[in-house]
Amino acid sequence: MSKLPTRLRRNPILRRLVQETELSINDLVQPIFVTYSNEKTEILSMPGQYHIPLDIIEKEIKRLVNVGINAIILFGIPEKKDEKGLDAIDDNGIVQQAVRKIKQHFPELLIITDVCFCQYTTHGHCGILDKKGLINRRKSLEYLQKQVISHVNAGSDVVAPSCMIDEMIKYIRDVLDNNQHEDIGILSYAVKYASSFYGPFRDAAHSTPKYGDRQSYQIYPGNIKEALKEAKIDEDEGADIIMVKPATPYLDVIHQVKNLVQCPVAAYQVSGEYAMIKSASEKGWIDEDTCILESLIGIKRAGANFIVTYFATSAAQLIKKNMK
Ligand code: PBG
Repeated sequence: MSKLPTRLRRNPILRRLVQETELSINDLVQPIFVTYSNEKTEILSMPGQYHIPLDIIEKEIKRLVNVGINAIILFGIPEKKDEKGLDAIDDNGIVQQAVRKIKQHFPELLIITDVCFCQYTTHGHCGILDKKGLINRRKSLEYLQKQVISHVNAGSDVVAPSCMIDEMIKYIRDVLDNNQHEDIGILSYAVKYASSFYGPFRDAAHSTPKYGDRQSYQIYPGNIKEALKEAKIDEDEGADIIMVKPATPYLDVIHQVKNLVQCPVAAYQVSGEYAMIKSASEKGWIDEDTCILESLIGIKRAGANFIVTYFATSAAQLIKKNMK
């Protein structure tokens, strides 16, 4: 008997019949940066991604809804920062205003809001600091609850805490339940590595810590047991979806988290992953379109139910084109 695996690869229809993983537009979430400034500006280290003024947000959203994107994750760029990141908890803060505006025009679009303080604080850390400059957990949890309620009152469908503060999910679930928001889901950035691949995002969100780094709350890249522990704790505290971030250097983590938890698993293909594909293809060293799709299918194969990616809109266009 001849064992020839290529038998199944000779015919395109047969190839598609035996294809194990499929990437669909329903798997993609597009991050959006919204700003008070009235100029739409391209993010230097993320070509093709923009700071979008609140005034024209609906026009921008229309563009991605038209290619079939059903879900976005919103990041706000506040006008001014302070020690406590007050814009983040203000009912008229940048994210809250954007959510209301988007919901009004696109009631069907799923809006996930990133819940964190680093873009909003003068020090650039993800929570409220104590006198020694360390994260004050209790105070941060209290402010996180305020931020969540304010987002949900504005119309956010799912809240996504990304600050890696212990027990954040427990506190957020509590405050949602106690305020008649039992139906609002939590997408937890449970497994967030202390990664250098966030570099371009920090330029984009102006959220580089003014001193120190995030190693005291994010996970060391070489650790996986700790990642599994985080995932399990967050699921037990009531997270509805567990996210792993970044994606490509952590495919084994996605896979193992998937096997561990009962809830769906998401992956975040971060700014540095985007920038690498963008810059290499701009140089003509790789083919952008096929590399985008290959990177995303790889993340799905590892076990992600869906992917937060700056390529969402381009990938949706490519998927549509390939279906024709
Ligand atoms: C924190 C946050 C970060 C990202 C999303 N939410 C950055 C960080 O921890 O510095 C990174 C996303 C990316 O790199 O694309 N609010």
